[in-house]
Amino acid sequence: MTTVAASTRKESPLTRILTLELARVTERAAVAAARLRGRGDEFAADQAAVDAMRKELNALPIDGTVVIGEGERDEAPMLFIGEKVGASGGPALDIALDPLEGTTIAAKNLPNSIAVIALAEKGSLLAAPDVYMDKVAIGPGFDPGLVTLDMPPAERLKALAKARGVSVSQITACVLDRPRHAKMIDEIREAGAAISLIGDGDVAGVIHVTDPETSGIDIYMGIGGAPEGVLAAAALRCIGGQMQGRLVIHSDTQRERAIKMGVSDLDRIYEATELAGGDVLFSATGVTDGNLLSGVRFSHRAVSTHTLVMRSSSGTVRWIRAEHQDLQKFVDAIDNDP
Ligand code: FBP
Repeated sequence: MTTVAASTRKESPLTRILTLELARVTERAAVAAARLRGRGDEFAADQAAVDAMRKELNALPIDGTVVIGEGERDEAPMLFIGEKVGASGGPALDIALDPLEGTTIAAKNLPNSIAVIALAEKGSLLAAPDVYMDKVAIGPGFDPGLVTLDMPPAERLKALAKARGVSVSQITACVLDRPRHAKMIDEIREAGAAISLIGDGDVAGVIHVTDPETSGIDIYMGIGGAPEGVLAAAALRCIGGQMQGRLVIHSDTQRERAIKMGVSDLDRIYEATELAGGDVLFSATGVTDGNLLSGVRFSHRAVSTHTLVMRSSSGTVRWIRAEHQDLQKFVDAIDNDP
C-alpha cells in the first residue's frame, strides 16, 4: 500500500541502494590505506586510498562530480575538484570525499584515521576552498543555537553544561593540538572543562560529539580544514547534532580562491544544513582504531572493516562490521604483485 507521505515526498536522486554501495567505497579505501599504516609514509598511504576509492566510485551508478576532493585539478591528479566520477547514466550528484582523513595519524598508526565520503543532491554541498574553517559542534537533542561561533569558549561550555544538567567540569571539549589554539585551550581549562587534544582528524573529532558516552567528547571547537568541515556537517546532518562553521581567510590568494569557487560572503557563519544541504548519504570506515570505529584487521582468513553509513532523509544509521574474503584476495594480489 502506498502511504500519503511516501506518494507526496519529493523524490531524492539518492536511491536507497546507494547507501550500501557507498559503504563499499570507504571500505576499499580504508583497506588500501591500512595496508600502509604505521609505515611513516603519508604519501603512499594516501595514494593507495585515493586509487581504491576512485576505482570503486567509478563503478557506482551515478553521474558524480567531486566538489570536495584531493585538491585543484593542477595539484591533484585524481579525485580533484570538478572531476567526474561514476558509471554514466545515474543521478547527478555532488561528492565530498577524503580517502584518508588523518594521513599523519595513519602513517603513525595513531587513533581515528578514517576513509570518508558524502554524496548529496547536485548543488547541495558548499564548494569550500582548501582554507581553514572555525568550527563548533555539539550532539543531538539540544535547542537550536545553544552554542554558537560568536560565543567565547567559556560561554559555550556553560550553556552546554546547563542544558545537560551537569557542571562545566563534567564537560570534555575536543580540540586540534595546534599553537593557534593556545588561547582557546587556556580559556577552556580556566572554565573548568577537560580537553581531549587530537593530533589530526577533526572529521572524527566532530562525529565524536554525537555519542559522548562512547567517545567521551561533548563538544568540538577550533580551527581545522574547511573541506573537512563540509564532511563533518554531512555526518551531523545524518546522525543529528549542531554545527557552525566560518571560513578563516589568511591571504588575498585564499580570498580569490574562495570567490572563484562561488563563496561570496567570506564572513558568513554556515549552519550544517548550509554546508551540506538536502538529502545526504555519508560513509566512514576506520583505518586505524578509534573511539567510534575500529580500524581494519587483517587475518589469514579475511579482512575485517568497521563502517558507519547513514542517510539524512531517513535518519538511518548503520554500523557495519564486515568480513571480506574477496578483499583478502585483493590484498593477496597486491602482495604478489612483482
Ligand atoms: P589530512 O587528512 O589532509 O592529513 O588532514 C588532517 C587534518 O587534521 C584535518 O582533520 C584537519 O581539518 C586539518 O588537518 C587541520 O589542518 P592543519 O594540520 O593545517 O592544522
